Amino acid sequence: MSQLAILGGAPTLTQGDHRPWPQLGAREREAVSRVLERGVLGGEDGPASRALEARFAELVGVRHALLTHAGTSALQLALAAAEIAPGEEVILPAYGYVAAPLCVLARGGIPRFVDVDRENGNLDPRAVEEVLTTRARAIVPMHIHGCPADMDRLGALAARYGLALIEDAAQALGATHRGRPVGGLGASAAFSFQSTKHVPAGEGGVFVTDDDAAAERARSARGFGRDVRAQREAGGLVAHTLGGVGRGNEMMAAVALAQLERLPERMATMRWNETLLRDAFADLEGLSLQAVEADRTAVWYKLRLHFDARVAGLALAPRALRSLLMRALLAEGVGVTLWQDHLLPEHPAFAPHEGFGRRWPYALHPEPDTLRAEYRAERFPRARALLDASLVLFDENRPLIAQTPRTVERVAAAVRKVWAGRHALARAFPDDGPTDRT
Ligand SMILES: Cc1ncc(COP(=O)(O)O)c(C=O)c1O
Repeated sequence: MSQLAILGGAPTLTQGDHRPWPQLGAREREAVSRVLERGVLGGEDGPASRALEARFAELVGVRHALLTHAGTSALQLALAAAEIAPGEEVILPAYGYVAAPLCVLARGGIPRFVDVDRENGNLDPRAVEEVLTTRARAIVPMHIHGCPADMDRLGALAARYGLALIEDAAQALGATHRGRPVGGLGASAAFSFQSTKHVPAGEGGVFVTDDDAAAERARSARGFGRDVRAQREAGGLVAHTLGGVGRGNEMMAAVALAQLERLPERMATMRWNETLLRDAFADLEGLSLQAVEADRTAVWYKLRLHFDARVAGLALAPRALRSLLMRALLAEGVGVTLWQDHLLPEHPAFAPHEGFGRRWPYALHPEPDTLRAEYRAERFPRARALLDASLVLFDENRPLIAQTPRTVERVAAAVRKVWAGRHALARAFPDDGPTDRT
């Protein structure tokens, strides 16, 4: 076995091995030039924006798509379309990205967190009924790392309890669930064009829905709360409901359209890379890649690498092993990150009575003390165990989807090298790394 780079050996990858992200070329330059030549930079009826919206609706299989200036604004539109009111509750996974629960809070809604599936990291449908009250209005699964949540069971729960099922599909453009594209599986969905996503356009997002009335409410929320139909008749802006400015712009739409054309080719590369990694790790005891169920396809951007210290014969707490592996992989030149280490309910913004000021909106809850107890990390053991015992391979600047198979082979070799050297690693850093939190 060759010496680990962290112990003085040669790194497996060098600086230039990973391809950076985003990848832009003549297609994007020409698309932006056309926008500049036309001289229409923004507005809801801009030709590039309209073309992008039409393309997106077709891709997702829904009637309406609205370009927004971020994935977060698309989430805001989704909550507005679902008419979430102050004090009403929205069910979200305890692990994921902070945008959706912050949007809930911004409407005066109360985020209710539930534990996730230990294997795929998504909101666990089995946990939903534990937090369900008559104040619940929506469920927001996140399709984490591009891997679809269990939309059949979530859909059944949403139907049974009259909840809006809103997909946070920011990381999952192109993923499918039982052959259907994510984003068209619930009441509405939000996608993101932020620089680290599969289709980057600097910033930007899309709200999608198949429901005409929901689309109208979202359009109104995107444009200062105006009445979309009356506006066209009467002229002049009249705010009828809570809204803001959530429009995208023409440059963003043009870049996103150009990047969308590259998506099929990128997905093919990503799948090849995924197979390569799965094959390379198949015989490693105690090490595995994030799972995807047989009825779904994922669009991995990054991939979670799970490890089990006990199976690997190491007397190390998971977080201590995580810290060692991360340092050793970085030393080998592998793009690796934690991505998140806080559970969502642990963020001070959500711990009730903290972070948001004047106890709002938690004061609207009939039993704020009970609610506060429900945000404690102990309630989400699977999410905690998942984060403690895994790392994310590839990072924002060096995503799996952008890499050549040759680079991915090297990454696989580096992971195998570090795993083979894990005992030497543990011996070299006996006191290293934090112990477990719980
Ligand atoms: C799951 C998820 N939701 C929402 C967002 C927010 O998207 P944006 O940054 O475009 O606002 C992101 C990423 O940034 C995300 O990963």
